[in-house]
Amino acid sequence: MKRIAIIVSSQNGQTEKIAAGMAEQLRRKGVESDVFNLTKGQQPTKDQVAQYEGFIVGAPIHQGEFPVDILDWAWENGPAMAELPTALFTVSFNAADRRHRARATDDKMLRRFMKETDMRPRFVGTFAGALAYTKYSFFKKSVMQGMAASVGLPTNTMKDFELTNWFDVFEFSEAFQSQNMASKSAAVNRLQWTPEPLWPMSLQQAA
Ligand SMILES: Cc1cc2nc3c(=O)[nH]c(=O)nc-3n(C[C@H](O)[C@H](O)[C@H](O)COP(=O)(O)O)c2cc1C
Repeated sequence: MKRIAIIVSSQNGQTEKIAAGMAEQLRRKGVESDVFNLTKGQQPTKDQVAQYEGFIVGAPIHQGEFPVDILDWAWENGPAMAELPTALFTVSFNAADRRHRARATDDKMLRRFMKETDMRPRFVGTFAGALAYTKYSFFKKSVMQGMAASVGLPTNTMKDFELTNWFDVFEFSEAFQSQNMASKSAAVNRLQWTPEPLWPMSLQQAA
């Protein structure tokens, strides 16, 4: 793998920041990557897509859903990604919730993305995002504060809080670069958390 694309949707910037962190880590290991934030109108051309040797797709969760732009992109570019190394990661508050049931929600959302797009990533990961209180509107700020309080996250709306575990992000990037599917990192293939059979068997059952 010489050059890959990292495609994300990112409204408040944290998914894009995680993608940039991955790109930096990959560069250190000899893999160049280009980051595209669909929310900013950035898209690889068809010619570019055909030349990349791998893809990482990053999707934040907003109000229990994935943004339509990233779902559409993954669906439309499925054939181009089919035979190449691919990874999918989600970004949410849920990933910062330490309770066991939160891992089941992480898995459910990953499966939902795969089901809705037909993407079959080699690696999956779930990363905690950010509480960007200072960027939210007055209404959103109070909704997010309530949401944060319910899962024990910071509630001081005068500041922003980054919940992302960068060590997890780097481990994920390294596993992707080396295509080490046996990585023991907690950040890699967290889908295995569920007591169900491992994917793809479990994905077929979910379908
Ligand atoms: C309006 C809004 C709704 C959100 N809804 C959820 C949610 O339903 N579940 C969740 O786990 N995180 C939720 N989050 C947390 C986001 O996933 C997190 O803030 C992430 O960093 C957003 O990514 P972005 O900065 O790339 O847009 C929400 C955040 C916002 C601002």
